[in-house]
Amino acid sequence: MNKKCQVFTPREVVEAMLDKIGYTKGLYGKKVLENSCGVGNILCVVVERYIKTCLVEGYSNISIKKGLELDIYGVEIDEIHFNKCIENLNHIAEKYGLYNIDWKILNIDSLNKKWEVKFDYLIGNPPYIKYSEINSSIRKFVKENFKTCSIGKFDYCYAFIESALENLNDTGKMIYLIPNSIFKNVFGKNLRAMMLDDLTEIIDYKNLKLFPGISTSSALILIEKGRKTEKIIYQDVKRNFTSELPKEKLGEKWIFRDGNREEKASTNKFGDFFNASISIATLLNEAYVVKEFEDNGEYIATKSYNIEKEVIKRAVSPKSMSYGKTEMIIFPYYYRLGELKRYTLGEFEEKFPQAVKYLKQFENKLQKRKSSENTEWFEYGRTQALKNLNQSKLLLSTVVTSKIKVYELNEESIPYSGIFVTPKSSLSLNIAKRILTSEDFLNYAKGIGIQANGESVRITVNDINNFHIDLEGLIRNGENEI
Ligand SMILES: C[S@@+](CC[C@H](N)C(=O)[O-])C[C@H]1O[C@@H](n2cnc3c(N)ncnc32)[C@H](O)[C@@H]1O
Repeated sequence: MNKKCQVFTPREVVEAMLDKIGYTKGLYGKKVLENSCGVGNILCVVVERYIKTCLVEGYSNISIKKGLELDIYGVEIDEIHFNKCIENLNHIAEKYGLYNIDWKILNIDSLNKKWEVKFDYLIGNPPYIKYSEINSSIRKFVKENFKTCSIGKFDYCYAFIESALENLNDTGKMIYLIPNSIFKNVFGKNLRAMMLDDLTEIIDYKNLKLFPGISTSSALILIEKGRKTEKIIYQDVKRNFTSELPKEKLGEKWIFRDGNREEKASTNKFGDFFNASISIATLLNEAYVVKEFEDNGEYIATKSYNIEKEVIKRAVSPKSMSYGKTEMIIFPYYYRLGELKRYTLGEFEEKFPQAVKYLKQFENKLQKRKSSENTEWFEYGRTQALKNLNQSKLLLSTVVTSKIKVYELNEESIPYSGIFVTPKSSLSLNIAKRILTSEDFLNYAKGIGIQANGESVRITVNDINNFHIDLEGLIRNGENEI
C-alpha cells in the first residue's frame, strides 16, 4: 500500500464532518460505512456519538451492542491499521461497559467489495494517489471497473467516491474529505458529472493546512441522495464567503466565485484575439539551454566548446526574466519568409559542426526522448509551439500567486518555460498585457487554477484563451492600439 495515502483525519475535522451530515441523533438502526477507515479516526467519533445518543434515547447496553454490530461498517486494506482500528474501537466501547463486540470492520480491498446492504451515511477521507503513483495492475482494475476512472490520468480517490455514491440508499447522505483538484482536473470530468445531481454543498479549505506537514488542498463534499437541489452551497473557508451557485452554471471545470459579485456578460474570449500557447518543449533543456557562456563574436563559448552564433538565440523563462539572467538556447531551425524550416541531418552537420559536437555530449539522452514522429536527434522533442515564435510576444508563468507578471519578448527570444501570447487580430499586445495584468484576470486565474504550492495556483493555456474579455469596454476606453 502506498504509504503516502495513509494520512488520517484530525479530530476537529471529523467532528465538523459529522455535524454537517447530521450524524447527531436518532442513530439507532442507521447504517454507516467508512470505506477506507485507517486506524479509525472517523469511526471512533462515529461510535462514540452512536453510543452516547443511544444512551440518551434510552437504549439498553444489550441493544446498543447489537446496534454497533449491525449499523457500523468499515473497511481497511492495511492489516496493521485494521488491527489498530479494532483496538481503538474496543477502547471506546469499553469506556461505556460494552465488551466483545463483533465489529463489521473488514480487512479487505474496498473497491472489490459488493455490499448487500445500502447505507444511510457514508463518511470518509479516501486514499488520494496520483495516477503516476498507482501501480499498473490496480490502474487497470480501476480503469475497467469505475466510470470515473475510464479517461486519462485519474486519481485513485475517484474510484472511492464512485463506490461510495453507489452504496448510498435513496435518502442516504455522504460526506467526504477530498483533494479540491477534483473540481477542475480535466480527467475529473466524469466524476463531476456523476456527483452533480446529488451534490448539495462544498466546503473548500483551499490551501489552509488540514493535515500537519502535508500540502494537499482539501475540501468537503456533501451529497444528499434524493434532494435534487438546483444550487450548490459553496463555502470558501479561506476567503470567508458563502455562495449559492446554480448547478447549470458550472461548466466543464467548476469555477466558484463569490455570488455577490456581478459576473460580466461577455461573449468575447481572449482566445478570439490572441493565441496563448505553451512554450517550446525540447524534452531535454540541459542539452539546448546554455546558462554559462561568453560571447566571442562569431561563437558562443561554453566550457570547452564554441557554438556557431547563427544557431543560437536568446532563451527566456519567467524565472530567468524575473532574475534578469541572460541565457542562450541552441535553436536548430530557421525561418524563411516567416515560415519555420527544418534542417536535414546532413545540412545541420555541415553548417554547424561545432554545435553538433556540443550536442553529441547528450546524444544518448536525446535519442531516448519520446519525441514527435520523424524528428532528428538534434531537433527539439516537440515542434508544435515553434511556428508562432518569430514575432513579438508576451510571456507569463503557469503558476499564479499574488500578482501576474507579464514580460514583453522580441521575435528573436525563445520561451522554453511558461505560456507565451501572440496576437491573432488587430488588437495589440499592449491590450493583451493590460488584460493579463488586470485585477479581473487575477481573480479569474485564482478561481480556475488548480492549487499548486501554498498560495499559488497553476493555470493552463486553455484557461487563458477562455477568459471572457470586455471588448466594448476596451474600445470605449479609446485605446488607439485597437
Ligand atoms: C487517507 S487515509 C484515511 C484514513 C481514514 N479514513 C481517516 O480519515 O483517518 C486512507 C486509508 O485508505 C486505506 N486504503 C487504501 N486503499 C484501500 C483499499 N483499496 N481498500 C480499503 N482501504 C484502502 C489506506 O491504507 C489508508 O489507511
